[in-house]
Amino acid sequence: MHPVYYKEGTLKLIDQRLLPEEEIHLAYTDYRKIAEAITDMVVRGAPAIGVTAAYGIYFAAEEFKNTSPDAFEQAMTEAATVLAAARPTAVNLFWAIERMKKCLEKHRHLTNVAATQALKKEADAILREDLEMCRAIGQHGNQLIPQNAQILTHCNAGALATAGYGTALGVVRAAHEAGKNVHVYADETRPFLQGSRLTAYELHADGIPVTLITDNMAGWMMKQGKVDCVVVGADRIAANGDVANKIGTFSLAVLAKYHEIPFYVAAPTSTIDFKLKTGDGIVIEERSPREVTHIGEIQLAPEGINVRNPAFDVTDHPLITAMITEKGVLKPPYQQGIAKLGGNR
Ligand code: MRU
Repeated sequence: MHPVYYKEGTLKLIDQRLLPEEEIHLAYTDYRKIAEAITDMVVRGAPAIGVTAAYGIYFAAEEFKNTSPDAFEQAMTEAATVLAAARPTAVNLFWAIERMKKCLEKHRHLTNVAATQALKKEADAILREDLEMCRAIGQHGNQLIPQNAQILTHCNAGALATAGYGTALGVVRAAHEAGKNVHVYADETRPFLQGSRLTAYELHADGIPVTLITDNMAGWMMKQGKVDCVVVGADRIAANGDVANKIGTFSLAVLAKYHEIPFYVAAPTSTIDFKLKTGDGIVIEERSPREVTHIGEIQLAPEGINVRNPAFDVTDHPLITAMITEKGVLKPPYQQGIAKLGGNR
């Protein structure tokens, strides 16, 4: 399952708002529409929105490649600004845009047309590498998963949140492929229901045993000894190891600590914000109250009620047992491990 891919001159996105009822692949060539698709959750999940934004930059270059060098540069700066404003929390978005900007910088001495070709190659590389990173995360993470493991996950950190295969679900897939007889508890993940609509959908489609629970059932499952480990993805990891991920992740980490259950975060190094000291500096997206008051067209709350809808929370690093990256498994102290991964970034 590939939620984002390039085909015949267009960027294709699976419209994730319609899953699981319908799998519609929309085609894009306008970077402004691509930014809107990220904001509106046609595509979501930290790595997937990074890949999408990279193609957004490429399509901006396609649009303006026949203008003067100055006009081209101005248009590209504008496109980067529009795409970066699409969502605030997942750092992969900014990481991918920065990488595309660097690529453009490197090819500035060439014609606009040649620079545009270089940008296409770079976006393709970002997509390909994301897939490779997910597979590597799967291989490393599999070593932490015991035979017959009952794994709890939150939100969707699967194929649908990446170029394919997934991060947290990449670990699950690798364990399943290794014949470990794993079973997943998928939190439904209110209010946007990425767990029930997406995680349950993709695991079920792949024949990986999955049981759907509502978010408030997780603690009870743990107490009954039904959960051997928790594996989640990440939207941004600070230099000290604090992790922003889907709202509800923090509560799960506290529950896991209480029950002495390992709590693993699986993410590529493109999710690490090396310059950000702690999770306190992470901007948490606040989304529309309608996601809380309604499910589809059905209203669940009184008209005019006060609502909060933070889309993410931050899990403090002492609650995290290990982090699974494509470069290997990090154990505490995270600050040192992350700094080593950072290199010159
Ligand atoms: O709001 P979303 O659906 O974009 O949030 C996604 C998550 O929180 C995922 O867990 C995270 O992006 C990791 S995806 C590999």
